[in-house]
Amino acid sequence: MDEKSVYRTNIIGAREVEGTVTVDMDKNTVYKTNSFYWNTKGSDFLGAIVLPFYGAFVSEEKCQLFGDVSGKKMLEIGCGNGQSLQYHGERKAKELWAVDISEQQIEKAAQHLKACDLSAKLICAPMEEECGIPLDYFDFVYSIYAIGWTTDLEGTFCRIASYLKKDGVFIFSWSHPIHKCVVAEHDILTFKKCYFDESWYSVTLDGGALTLSDRKLSTYVNALAKAGFVIEEMIEQSDEDLMESMGENNDFAEKAKMLPVTFVMKTRKR
Ligand SMILES: C[S@@+](CC[C@H](N)C(=O)[O-])C[C@H]1O[C@@H](n2cnc3c(N)ncnc32)[C@H](O)[C@@H]1O
Repeated sequence: MDEKSVYRTNIIGAREVEGTVTVDMDKNTVYKTNSFYWNTKGSDFLGAIVLPFYGAFVSEEKCQLFGDVSGKKMLEIGCGNGQSLQYHGERKAKELWAVDISEQQIEKAAQHLKACDLSAKLICAPMEEECGIPLDYFDFVYSIYAIGWTTDLEGTFCRIASYLKKDGVFIFSWSHPIHKCVVAEHDILTFKKCYFDESWYSVTLDGGALTLSDRKLSTYVNALAKAGFVIEEMIEQSDEDLMESMGENNDFAEKAKMLPVTFVMKTRKR
């Protein structure tokens, strides 16, 4: 912990987690910390979120944001274990590409896709950086719970716009910023963090560290607009069936009934 670090709130699921401190953001330190976490821990603690799910309580099967992807060129940002690429491969996408900062996640994705008899071009790099992805090439760029790891939201959205053909679609999901402010326990919701606080923090999870910031919804909307995207649809609603499937007295499902825990944006390049 550096001298400026101060303890603060971080919320995962329904509860506050210990071991969170505010930090200064240095891009290269964040790359190093976060790639080490994903290389060593993967999704073992946080759990993978992959298509058809956009988050715990939102699914593509209900939302139908992609439509028919057959013959389409797809790029995933932060592909993790490769299961979302598999989803599109099985729906006859023409080309599958992905970028991820973690060598281990890329390796897992490569092995998974090979076992599914699918091929993909997988690139190990931070989403923020130039990494040889072709320009004006893709019909869809998408990201399932990975965009928020960027150290440069506007720069990343501009890069994503450059990868898309004109009228190409960019779809992403991330934790809803309101969810990151509220703790739920025994039917009581408590506002624990300032919604407007976008300061960077480091959190210790399962013996590993991750560094990130909780951005406001307007920060996402304004960065999309600056990068030349038009928002076609935004999903905040939790799916009743998915909440019910968690069973009774599940704090996270009870929280999701009261406020959005995930948001999904479907946008189009102008
Ligand atoms: C929560 S996972 C999401 C991936 C997949 N949907 C899943 O749940 O397994 C986040 C992924 O983003 C990757 N990631 C984190 N920071 C990144 C960055 N700056 N550039 C590219 N990928 C990044 C991680 O390596 C990890 O595979």
